[in-house]
Amino acid sequence: MSTGNTPEHADPAMSPAHATGLQSASASAAAPHAAYADQVHRAAQQSYSRKDDHVRLANSQHEAENRNSFDDVRFIHNSFPDIAVTDIDLHTDVLGARWELPFYINAMTGGSKQTGVLNASLAEAANATGISIASGSQHAALRDSSLTPTFATLREHTRGFLIANVGPSVTAAQAQQAVEMIDADALQVHVNAAQEIVMPEGDRDFRDWKASIDAIAETVQVPVIVKEVGFGMSQATIRYLYTTKAAAIDVSGKGGTDFITIENQRRKRSEFSYMTGWGESTVLSLMNVATVDNDIFGQNRPTQEGAERHCSKPQVIASGGVRTPLDVAIALSMGAQAVGVSGHFLHTLIASGTEGLIAEIERWKQQLGSIMTLLGARSLTELSRTDLVITGETAQEAEVLGISLKGYANRSVH
Ligand SMILES: Cc1cc2nc3c(=O)[nH]c(=O)nc-3n(C[C@H](O)[C@H](O)[C@H](O)COP(=O)(O)O)c2cc1C
Repeated sequence: MSTGNTPEHADPAMSPAHATGLQSASASAAAPHAAYADQVHRAAQQSYSRKDDHVRLANSQHEAENRNSFDDVRFIHNSFPDIAVTDIDLHTDVLGARWELPFYINAMTGGSKQTGVLNASLAEAANATGISIASGSQHAALRDSSLTPTFATLREHTRGFLIANVGPSVTAAQAQQAVEMIDADALQVHVNAAQEIVMPEGDRDFRDWKASIDAIAETVQVPVIVKEVGFGMSQATIRYLYTTKAAAIDVSGKGGTDFITIENQRRKRSEFSYMTGWGESTVLSLMNVATVDNDIFGQNRPTQEGAERHCSKPQVIASGGVRTPLDVAIALSMGAQAVGVSGHFLHTLIASGTEGLIAEIERWKQQLGSIMTLLGARSLTELSRTDLVITGETAQEAEVLGISLKGYANRSVH
């Protein structure tokens, strides 16, 4: 991500000690893929940027994937699935388009030589497997057009659904420029206040964000997704977004890539260590969406509150800490129309190269089908009627927020 008005390099609190490349990844990569890590590393040495820091630090967070809110959710087992793997239909409808697969590569890279190389590989993998992909923040190219090719490479490598990405500090005209830069089918507007606050060179004034999102959504010629960046969404945030022209929201919750930790590691004195773990988890964010939906729309009809506040229901996308096809299935069963994956796919690419990422996506496709078969769910609609037991920290937090857990455990009987 990028900040609004601050240049990429003006960062007085930044650590002088950061390396530019992916040494740990290239050192740990299996021999056949060392060449790929080396290629990315060489590109990083040619031009340093904040985006390279983000890739290096995020990649190290995914070397061992941690426990997160998805581990608090389990499907109730049924011994008689009554269906066959050939019955499974994984397609989903997102922003008026048909996606053959319900998971995709979420926003990450572009804006430097190294991340241009990564973007080309991510898009190649997306194209080869038929999944959608989002660009990383395009602010760098909006400021410096010589960086445009590091984003345009996305469209050069995929014919599939492609999503542009900006933050709310750009003008509506710049947002439209970002869409055109990569011939995108939709636009993500990232809301990353938690990251900006800890980022040495980050934004410190968020007063115009709501007005800016309105202007962007009014102006751009593609649907707008308002997305978090790994800090999740509260009920208040979701309620607000339901009054905007956002066509979709991506709750992008905590549990995977943690940008407070990343930005803190970029500070000379790492003063914000105690902020690690800030935000709403992905699972809790999805429960927040369901609560707001129920409050505002009741039985699919706008309630008085919905009608008075001109609420419209955006589509819901989940991301943040998605590590396995089981996490994808849980997020879909909790109401997500699609599921974004960033850190895990980035780490797979750096460790195993483009072919390794393609193989991983193919594995996820097969295994998501297997899990849905076991659950007797032919489609995403049927998956959303399966029974879930929610325990642990997620259950405790839900209870404090007044969210009923029993509803999730008894969905198949209603
Ligand atoms: C290296 C890296 C760079 C990212 N850059 C952006 C960005 O430019 N714009 C954005 O909206 N999100 C960005 N994100 C956030 C992801 O899209 C996602 O919301 C977050 O990482 C949580 O998902 P994860 O746990 O699967 O990584 C970035 C993530 C990573 C790992």
